[in-house]
Amino acid sequence: MTTPLAPSRRTVLKGAAIAAAAAGSSAFRPFDVAAAAAPASRGVFGYGVASGDPTADAVIIWTRATPPTRPGEPVAAPGSGLGAPLRVRWEVARDRDFRRVVQRGVVATSADADHTVKVDVRGLAPYTRYFYRFRTRGEVSATGRTQTAPDEGRRTHALRFALVSCSNYTGGYFGAYRAVGRRDDLDFVLHVGDYIYEYGNGSDRYGPVDLIGERDSVPATETIDLQGYRLRHALHKADPDLQRAHRRHPWITIFDDHEVTNNAWAAGAENHTPGAEGDFFRRRREAYEAYLEWMPFRLPEQRRVPHQGIRFFKRFTFGDLADLSVVETRQNRSAQVDVAPYSVSGGGFIPTGIAAVDAQLADPSRHLPEPEQLDWLKQNTADERHRWHLIGNQVILTPVRFPGPVFGAPADQVLLNSDQWDGYQADQAELLDHLAAQPKSAGDAVVLTGDIHSSWAMDLPAARTATGYTPAGVEFVCPSVTSDGFYEAIRRAQPAGTPVANAVAATRQSAAAVTATNPWIRYLDGVGHGYTLVDVTRERVQADWYLTPVPTAELPDPRVDPEVVPAYARSFQTAAGSRQVSAAQGPVGERSDQPAHGLPHRGW
Ligand SMILES: [Fe+2]
Repeated sequence: MTTPLAPSRRTVLKGAAIAAAAAGSSAFRPFDVAAAAAPASRGVFGYGVASGDPTADAVIIWTRATPPTRPGEPVAAPGSGLGAPLRVRWEVARDRDFRRVVQRGVVATSADADHTVKVDVRGLAPYTRYFYRFRTRGEVSATGRTQTAPDEGRRTHALRFALVSCSNYTGGYFGAYRAVGRRDDLDFVLHVGDYIYEYGNGSDRYGPVDLIGERDSVPATETIDLQGYRLRHALHKADPDLQRAHRRHPWITIFDDHEVTNNAWAAGAENHTPGAEGDFFRRRREAYEAYLEWMPFRLPEQRRVPHQGIRFFKRFTFGDLADLSVVETRQNRSAQVDVAPYSVSGGGFIPTGIAAVDAQLADPSRHLPEPEQLDWLKQNTADERHRWHLIGNQVILTPVRFPGPVFGAPADQVLLNSDQWDGYQADQAELLDHLAAQPKSAGDAVVLTGDIHSSWAMDLPAARTATGYTPAGVEFVCPSVTSDGFYEAIRRAQPAGTPVANAVAATRQSAAAVTATNPWIRYLDGVGHGYTLVDVTRERVQADWYLTPVPTAELPDPRVDPEVVPAYARSFQTAAGSRQVSAAQGPVGERSDQPAHGLPHRGW
């Protein structure tokens, strides 16, 4: 996304970033073995273990096995292309001591896959917890815990997960992941994008200056090729808080723009310069390759489900309670609408009310998801077999108009973010109208979104007029794990020495102004970082926001505190059949039930 209030920041920094990237140009830059090797030197399984994409009978298990090397030999670090092929044993058990192993096997890996290991373990029992581990060359990985989804058509089980997005490594410590890794009541973690960022440590650095030298990017320059993306993923997988969150829960993930580069569209991106940074399609292909290697992500069999590009969007089901459609909105999207000087490439916060611009925004030939994906989503949300239709989504679906003064623009000016669904109004209207038109028997939609580094609860407003709208479901937006939000942007824009309380107050004023302009917004916090807990029952879906402490003069940026953990802040819910947001009293309580063999594993 383009950071609020600083729409031109990337553009300003762009020149320097290109210069840095071009320094190692064409053959790209020298490989930084010293920096890259550090996490791997902790052993064969130094990048931890992960699991993902749980269905009723299958789950993906993942690790990276670094081939051991003799002293003096170069380390087979991620992205290096070094290291002999390995055969890695894996096992899945019902208990953490592996006395009741239910499946085991051997899988080969090599430098071709960056020594990543991914197994789609099938034939498992529904709604059941499992433990898994890997072994090779005399070393055993950490033990991971995972679980399958409830079967279709069986009795209704509890469903609870953490919603996260925007985990910028240089933006701060991953306190949100630490908190998620401590929870024992989650079925999975849903990451809706910006798991990594592409920026380097130079003038393109993104995040608080306090962390320079303490939490730096690897590689040190912008990721523009396979080696760079592999290293950047490895950097994240070496983070202890992220490792714990992966070890403890299966994850369902989808990328947004930064897994490739900022504000990407089908054929380019704000943060990509053809020539200096190579061909965009080559860059994107290599970014996808690293993502698929390093994430516990299942691809459909492309022969069976042919698709324009790679079919990344996917659907999960949780008995009759809910389905979860995870959309992918970058690969085939039309170019964003730009209005100079507000945005020059890849969209941003642009003014409305200019006839030619409004016509472009509403042009039905422009798409966010490709038509085939939108049809798929409309089908899923009309499926009467599921009470709730959860949608894992990257950029905000709800129409949001930003009053000009929020961006220092005149009071009569109104802006929108053309990188959101607001920039693709034909698709936006088609989906909202479709949801509003569904009979009660079809259930209700709950859109779960990230990207904007702030916390929101909104009705999805269909058929908007000057006096009202038809609520068509709700959208809950999680804060960023660490990426700059409204507060950081406002603080940066203030003169040095301005009291912290002033930036907090100004952020809240801006949020109030946005809320006043968009009557369907029920909650907007632009200060905290953290995660959102989502709890689904037949009666309601509740979202609890867990946020970092409000900044103070002593701790003006809580993200730089390695001990900080987000705490419970606010809750909202949507009652079945209401299709709108309502108040909720306090955080959710105990789960109604546990997956099979879900004995509490203390100290886990
Ligand atoms: Fe982000």
